[in-house]
Amino acid sequence: MQKIDGKATAAAIKAKIAEEVRQLVAKGGKRPHLAAVLVGHDGGSETYVRNKVLACEECGFESTLIRYEENVTEEELLKCVDKLNHDDNVDGFIVQLPLPKHINEEKIVMAVDYKKDVDGFHPINVGRMSIGLPCFISATPLGIMTLLQHYNIDTNGKKCVILGRSNIVGKPMAQLMMQKAYGNATVTVCHSQSKNIKQECREADIIIAAIGVPNFVTADMVKEGAVVIDVGTTRVPDGTRKSGFRLNGDVKFDEVAPKCSYITPVPGGVGPMTICSLMTNTLAAGKKEYYR
Ligand code: GUN
Repeated sequence: MQKIDGKATAAAIKAKIAEEVRQLVAKGGKRPHLAAVLVGHDGGSETYVRNKVLACEECGFESTLIRYEENVTEEELLKCVDKLNHDDNVDGFIVQLPLPKHINEEKIVMAVDYKKDVDGFHPINVGRMSIGLPCFISATPLGIMTLLQHYNIDTNGKKCVILGRSNIVGKPMAQLMMQKAYGNATVTVCHSQSKNIKQECREADIIIAAIGVPNFVTADMVKEGAVVIDVGTTRVPDGTRKSGFRLNGDVKFDEVAPKCSYITPVPGGVGPMTICSLMTNTLAAGKKEYYR
């Protein structure tokens, strides 16, 4: 069994990006600039956004954090998005989700200029990705594809089971794993209404768990030699930690790991790769790689 080190892989990729930015700037180019919009004070979102800003520093990017209180109106937020859309100094931006209930997330996502949508959430990017056109790809699925590639894990013709059908992980992951240019695998997507999840998983060469249910994947669901990718990051109370919680994956790591050829831990697996992929997308935005 080999434990996949997302932290080390992300560090290596960020170092490469930083070197490219150094060369870009030395030639008189502009540093890529990422803006992040954060609404309210949700602990998880605060941590994610802080880590995104830190990653920008590591990569030599410019970053701007725009904060709003929980009671910001939808109109104010849409105005902010419009301003960022038209700010030539900003190459890409994200609006951290989830947003407060009185704001229509879909409306905000749709308002982002797809050419600056480094989250890859806009329907134009989702659509382009699904037919294999150059575009921004959602950071977590892109991070997982990068990890599989980095570890030379063969996905060609393999049976891949994806647990979860969210717009930001399950669905784009299924697309990437299916496509010839990426996974080229046979893909099954399971969700809360699937009848035979255990059996589907037992037949899988690759399991990608993204349902947000701690310890859902148990040893009896995993074939000997399977590759298991754990996207779960549920916060569970832990009195022994300073923060008062720990991150729990969707996979019962201790019992599943011995059966795997490769497995990602939580934390230190997929998580660091998500932010790393946002940096990859921001560099591409800065270089106008996909869109002029
Ligand atoms: N909330 C959880 N993951 C993400 C992400 O990748 N991007 C944004 N904008 N919000 C998130």
